[in-house]
Amino acid sequence: MGNIAVYPGSFDPITNGHVDLIKRGLKIFDRLIVLVAYNPSKDSRFTVEERVEMIQEVIKNMEGVSVDSYYGLLVDYVRDHGASVLLRGLRALSDFEYEFQMALINRKLNREIETVFLMTGYRWFFTSSKIINEAASFGGNVKGLVPELVYQNLLKKYKQGKE
Ligand code: PNS
Repeated sequence: MGNIAVYPGSFDPITNGHVDLIKRGLKIFDRLIVLVAYNPSKDSRFTVEERVEMIQEVIKNMEGVSVDSYYGLLVDYVRDHGASVLLRGLRALSDFEYEFQMALINRKLNREIETVFLMTGYRWFFTSSKIINEAASFGGNVKGLVPELVYQNLLKKYKQGKE
């Protein structure tokens, strides 16, 4: 079955930083499952279905990647899908404490699962879905920070909000 990693996140929406991580993750793992998971401490802008659809479009020509969504404990999903690795991206210092906490709780919950971190590409070091949404919602130009389809969807979403 090969080496399967689950790359979980809110992906609200998927950014070029995420895409970069998927591509680099594929150099390490045979298969990658991009998982739209539920983060109880975040309000979402796009529905789970919309987020999955955008990811599907972005990965359609990439071999070895699939997308799924899940509401529940991450480590249970990983176990049930024959994977043993969680892949996460690390940006500047601000990510560290939260990621450390998550990796440790996930290890406490299931010692068979390891979290592997990849440093985010330097071009994406200071971007996040949250900051991109914020900029787009005030009419800021976020072209180049997200895949073209996501950019078009952001334009639509925030134009609608103003009507
Ligand atoms: O992109 P995000 O919002 O930083 O991703 C966080 C996410 C969705 C991976 C995290 O909230 C998560 O794992 N949610 C599922 C519930 C869970 O297993 N939480 C961690 C152990 S309490």
